[in-house]
Amino acid sequence: MTFEPGSIAARDLDAVLHPQTHLGQHQQTGPMMLKRAEGVYMYDDQGKQYLEGLAGLWCTALGYGNEELARTAYEQMKELSYAQLFASKSHEVGIRLAEKLKEMVPLHKSKVFFGNSGSDANDTQVKLVWYYNNVIGRPEKKKIIGRHKGYHGITLAAGSLTGLPPSHKGFDLPLAGGRFLHTDLPHHWRCAEPGESEEAFATRLADNLDALIRREGPETVAAFIAEPVMGAGGVIVPPATYFEKVQAVLARHDVLFIDDEVICGFGRTGQPFGADTYGIRADSISLAKALTSAYQPLSAVVIKDEIYQAFVDAAPEMGMFGHGFTYSGHPVACAVGLKVLEIYERDKLFEHAAALAPQFQERLQRFRDHPLVGEVRGVGLIGAVELVADKQSKAAFDPPGRVGAEVLKHCHANGLICRAIGDVMAFCPPLIITSAQVDELFDKFERAMASALEWANGEGLLAA
Ligand SMILES: Cc1ncc(COP(=O)(O)O)c(C=O)c1O
Repeated sequence: MTFEPGSIAARDLDAVLHPQTHLGQHQQTGPMMLKRAEGVYMYDDQGKQYLEGLAGLWCTALGYGNEELARTAYEQMKELSYAQLFASKSHEVGIRLAEKLKEMVPLHKSKVFFGNSGSDANDTQVKLVWYYNNVIGRPEKKKIIGRHKGYHGITLAAGSLTGLPPSHKGFDLPLAGGRFLHTDLPHHWRCAEPGESEEAFATRLADNLDALIRREGPETVAAFIAEPVMGAGGVIVPPATYFEKVQAVLARHDVLFIDDEVICGFGRTGQPFGADTYGIRADSISLAKALTSAYQPLSAVVIKDEIYQAFVDAAPEMGMFGHGFTYSGHPVACAVGLKVLEIYERDKLFEHAAALAPQFQERLQRFRDHPLVGEVRGVGLIGAVELVADKQSKAAFDPPGRVGAEVLKHCHANGLICRAIGDVMAFCPPLIITSAQVDELFDKFERAMASALEWANGEGLLAA
């Protein structure tokens, strides 16, 4: 397709390299142009309204156009638009946010390191684990285990932790050197053996993790990283007893647990953190996204005190702790983050999300019997519907992603934004969504699925 010269679509194609986009298809379809947003609604350049079903990229927990946050950023820009944290410099708004996070996260006694994105937070995690094992005299203990389909970002180390083929293919990732390993995807519906209970499946996965660590040599394995609920890998909710069993294996081999709360943090799973929902006792935590509700780019790595103390003890020998970004602890981002956390508390938004969760999950579960649907899964205010060609055999569509893209098209036509992860339709609305809007979301999805089914039948895509 060619776009009219000078049109916004033509200008987009001419100027922008789109992240995480099929560039060939983009040449044909052009961009979806969003112009403004307010609350849980977005509007395109034709004025069409969409209900935001994915909170941007799992991040805009407070929705759009929040006046208080805009004012907070403005005031902070006037007072102290920038200040660094390098070389012992500091500022109060950064200290206050670090104090607040220490108070909130399920990690006893801790220190907070600020960055700008989930990816750099996880790159920081890798560097801190390596630094830690170097300074405490275990230079060979460096390997980090992620999971197939895990998503931890796309920078070199975070992308190596990620277990999704498109993040690796063509980018020469995972990084060479054998330091990045991946263990099983904990997806019971897809990966369990016939008749295997969730508990038995979790035991098998923990045993496989144990075997992997033994094979590699426990003295070479430093850390394990996991999202409590896997987001970009298709919203995979862990099977019962999974984290309990995984943590027993990690403890046996003195392997650190890095908890990636970039999506699950701040009320998403019905508790303040995914770690609370699943009984995770982490050694360090990655935060981003809802930390500022995406009003500013900001991430945080929270480490336990023991790790920090090892860094301090090593200072005479190591000299300067040589890690940090120009924008580590950017005062405007910190001020917005603090205000966001204040609003979560003041407006009881974690409680609100937990109260809406049963309705959200019940509406989601209604799609279980839909002819296009294999599995429905979720927890709190996050969920997904997996589309299959054959409900009985769970056979996926071929080629993968075509039906998901079609369903998404019908969602857009019906005024709903969600995400097609291949053939998994994912939902993660802003935490401020109301009960009526949850109904609106799934009413729209129902209409989209009805049109998509008609199309799929016309194409003969479903098993007879
Ligand atoms: C669990 C998780 N970790 C890390 C990241 C990377 O964050 P960013 O895109 O801000 O680099 C993401 C992004 O979706 C994520 O979902």
